[in-house]
Amino acid sequence: MVWERAIFVPAYAKINLTLEVLGRRADGFHDLASVMQTISLHDTLLLRPALAGTYELSCDVPALAGADNLALRAARSLADASGRRHGVAIELRKVIPTQGGLGGGSSDGAAVLAALARLWDVDLAADDLLRLAAALGSDVPFLLRGGTALVGGRGERITPLPDSEPLWLVVARPPVAISTATAFRALTQADYADGAASAAVAAALQRGEPVPPVHLVNSFEASVRRAYPLVEETWEALRAAGAPEVRLSGSGPTLFAPFRALAPAADVWRRLRADGHEVWLARTVSRAEVDRSRSALSAAESSR
Ligand code: C5P
Repeated sequence: MVWERAIFVPAYAKINLTLEVLGRRADGFHDLASVMQTISLHDTLLLRPALAGTYELSCDVPALAGADNLALRAARSLADASGRRHGVAIELRKVIPTQGGLGGGSSDGAAVLAALARLWDVDLAADDLLRLAAALGSDVPFLLRGGTALVGGRGERITPLPDSEPLWLVVARPPVAISTATAFRALTQADYADGAASAAVAAALQRGEPVPPVHLVNSFEASVRRAYPLVEETWEALRAAGAPEVRLSGSGPTLFAPFRALAPAADVWRRLRADGHEVWLARTVSRAEVDRSRSALSAAESSR
């Protein structure tokens, strides 16, 4: 396959249906148990073939177009691993809020890895691609596959799960930025969990049952709500607008409220938007849908 045409690739955000921090490891990272889910909120990347050795990135948020951007680092690391000379020019349109707990930067990196592996015809075993992903960041291995999965270790152990029931999500971003490292440092012994809630959600999904709301837990919730009054304010706004459940995604500050039906979700979304909150109406995205968004790449190329 010779890659000649520019190609659009979506990079989906994730939420953590559960996120349990099990404990601190000798390498400074933390072991996790988390049920992660891709959602329809997404960045868009436009990938163009470029001269070998050329790796360029432009972004509608110019501050994000630096050499440390995960999309660019993903392209370079894949080219290095392939043992051949490649080049790519990437245009990135950001929609997923940065430093929000939705895995935006990680998803851009994962989408670039997955897409370029196909477009460059890179002959890498799935495990090797996962290792490249893990080296870019803890959320990147999950986002390479997407859908619903139980995630363990530092983020590199992925057990795909049957799709969760389709859910509508109101996603609200309180106006604060929280660095992941700071959020981990703020955890106390009391915030650690044993992984039982994530195991219970995984077991329910494996039995084809809906996710039991009581098991939707997040180890960061208590400390983030305590430390950031604006998170608490957005939380209360979601509850007051009629959201039965509100959860933190990742280490925050973004919150999500899941709904089975669209109408009540849209209602909550409209109310928050009218009050000036940064808020999106999204839905869950299955692994099959993520796969389709990527296999369309090679289909488009080979059908020319
Ligand atoms: O892997 P990533 O770059 O996303 O991690 C950002 C920071 O979050 C790490 O430097 C570390 O402080 C913390 N972290 C952690 N345990 C994890 C994932 C992240 O302590 N499993």
